[in-house]
Amino acid sequence: MKVLLVGGGGREHALARMIAASPLVDALYAAPGNPGIRRHARLLPLGGDDHGALLAAARREGVDFAVVGPEVPLVAGLADRLNEAGITTLGPGARAAAIEGSKAFAKDLMARHGIPTARFATFREPAAARAYARELGAPVVVKTDGLAAGKGSLVCATLAEADDAIAACLERGVFGLSGATIVIEEFLRGEEASFFALANGPDVIPLASAQDHKTVFDGDRGPNTGGMGAFSPFAPLDAAMQARVMREIVRPTIAALAAEAAPYRGILYAGLMLTADGPKVIEFNCRWGDPECEPILARAGSDLVPLFLAAARGEPMAPPPAWRPEASVCVVLVSGGYPGSYRTGIPIEGVGAAEAEPGVSVLHAGTAERDGQLVTNGGRVLAVTSVGADLESAIRRAYAGVARIKFEGMHYRSDIGRRRAR
Ligand code: AMP
Ligand code: GLY
Repeated sequence: MKVLLVGGGGREHALARMIAASPLVDALYAAPGNPGIRRHARLLPLGGDDHGALLAAARREGVDFAVVGPEVPLVAGLADRLNEAGITTLGPGARAAAIEGSKAFAKDLMARHGIPTARFATFREPAAARAYARELGAPVVVKTDGLAAGKGSLVCATLAEADDAIAACLERGVFGLSGATIVIEEFLRGEEASFFALANGPDVIPLASAQDHKTVFDGDRGPNTGGMGAFSPFAPLDAAMQARVMREIVRPTIAALAAEAAPYRGILYAGLMLTADGPKVIEFNCRWGDPECEPILARAGSDLVPLFLAAARGEPMAPPPAWRPEASVCVVLVSGGYPGSYRTGIPIEGVGAAEAEPGVSVLHAGTAERDGQLVTNGGRVLAVTSVGADLESAIRRAYAGVARIKFEGMHYRSDIGRRRAR
């Protein structure tokens, strides 16, 4: 089988490594990939946005199966186009990907089907939005309807902050069209968890859990980022809680999408708040999380490609995935200044030495190669991922890997997984 992987971050490096190792796969192409992915795939110099060029390349290379990593091409309908061209594709079509692409669509779907989530209303008009924020009271959350590269959720501690967030979206147009409609919702208290499931249209199976660390500094301080590190499994999502999440959230959501003519085929990411009243949805994403994908796939105890293929084809998903009992931790090394502005092209040293540490692999997120030298090429640069007997051991191993790597301005959190470790 010839496989095309779309994307070029740490999530896609983890996917590339797993797909290339599958006995079902003869050739793997990645568009655009990165220097880490190049170890596992032939790179095609195409972004996820150029659907026409991707389709032409997939046809030319005789691709049988495509896996789309990021949300932007899914929300824009890349999976529809690949499937229409006869290329089996893992990842929802545009109608189903709206579960991530439009917060208003996702919230309305949850409301119509009784799926637990924060109380909310949708607005285009600032005065009504300000009135509703007052009805909910602070803290309150203002969200852009459309995609905003992870920056569209504004958690407001006070009503003054909420007014400013509303004005930024609806009056100053800071988020462009993405913010022309907003969702205002109740602030949920509890612990956040990431839960992943795989759907084939009508049916869905659980995959695994993780916890992400979104803020840039230790102790959950500073601005939100795309994710500074993650670990898996996440103990509070034990078998009983996973069964509850499947029953109350994931199965009803997949059934609702199927009933509304938007059958979902692909990875469903439920961002959850484990509240005193039970698990509630913070958001859905139409893809693997990054960095959650890295520690989860590090724990895969069986080849997941047959399952991915079955889901993409709308066939029964069997056998169930096997997960190693060990823990995995991923620490993301970021450029100085991220999530604000940062420089790129800075030489990176020590990746080989890090990978020589027991249980450590280094996944590339924002890297490039210049004259044979690995250099930084993004905010999130490398995802150092470990496997250990338990969370404590996996943390120790991940940071032993991190200690080997250096680049000017390098920053990372030193407390990934800490709160849950003994
Ligand atoms: P999102 O972009 O929806 O993933 O939100 C980014 C972050 O904002 C989440 O990871 C939460 O930490 C926080 N957040 C979003 N919505 C809520 C909410 N309703 N209550 C509390 N925190 C929230
Ligand atoms: N780790 C958060 C995300 O992938 O959206």
